[in-house]
Amino acid sequence: MTPSTCLGDAWRQAARRIERLDARLLLEHVCGCTHAELIAHPERAMSEAQAAHFEELVSRRAAGEPLAYLVGSAWFGGLEFVVNPAVLIPRPETELLVDLAARRAQGLDKPRIVDLGTGSGIVAVLLARRCPQAGVTATDISAAALDVARANAARHGAAVRFLEGDWYAPLGDERFDLIVSNPPYVVDGDPHLALNGLPFEPPQALSDGVKGGDGLACIRRLVAAASRHLEPDGWLLMEHGYNQALAVRELLSEAGFREVASWRDGAGIERVSGGHVSLMRAEA
Ligand SMILES: C[S@@+](CC[C@H](N)C(=O)[O-])C[C@H]1O[C@@H](n2cnc3c(N)ncnc32)[C@H](O)[C@@H]1O
Repeated sequence: MTPSTCLGDAWRQAARRIERLDARLLLEHVCGCTHAELIAHPERAMSEAQAAHFEELVSRRAAGEPLAYLVGSAWFGGLEFVVNPAVLIPRPETELLVDLAARRAQGLDKPRIVDLGTGSGIVAVLLARRCPQAGVTATDISAAALDVARANAARHGAAVRFLEGDWYAPLGDERFDLIVSNPPYVVDGDPHLALNGLPFEPPQALSDGVKGGDGLACIRRLVAAASRHLEPDGWLLMEHGYNQALAVRELLSEAGFREVASWRDGAGIERVSGGHVSLMRAEA
């Protein structure tokens, strides 16, 4: 691309190397223009710096880097969230976890909710906004992820308390009405980890890292210690892989959870499982 490249030419040329939509979104990001401006003024010249920046981003996209990391944001639940390679890019299926949790929380007076492994903070931020009567806490083992989550909470005016540490460790002996989590659950070594931009995402957000395992190591830990952090009748809701619902229900039932169930996402896949601890009042 030359310094005199115009928007229309840049878009056309890039669309031969990457998806046309991605080329458009990168162009809008680099030039700060809208789709309408791009259509109305394809003859508008790009500066040398813009052309060079666009060229760099198109090359990175062509090499498989996710669009969200290139533009620094992603949409989830109707809000735009800051993302960078320290956090998982929000997935649409996670909206099911938020919807189920919000429905439970809305029926409670000042519920205490914790989001374990908050990443970019999407779940905690949306719950804090949808349930303003709730006290929302979010944890992650990654300090860099928590920086992103804090930025997203501030951006969307969500009152969330963030704590750094290994699953329940930063919570001490605190109890909650609702524990939600979208933990890493892809089986270590799953060939999908090499596809669709996943190599650019943080490995500890995708997989439990257990060689030869079933991907459920984090979910086992979440289930095992949940009763020490749930109020009587408190609920645990967890997202999991497309083929893990039965195994997660078994883990919950074996741990004494009641009303154990799985819920389907928009694609019809059992994607969230959970239960409550009624009558199994937590251990001391
Ligand atoms: C699948 S991502 C989910 C991120 C976000 N909640 C979402 O739904 O997009 C899992 C998150 O769990 C965090 N994580 C992994 N191991 C952890 C651990 N031992 N304790 C706390 N968080 C952990 C990762 O850093 C990552 O942010």
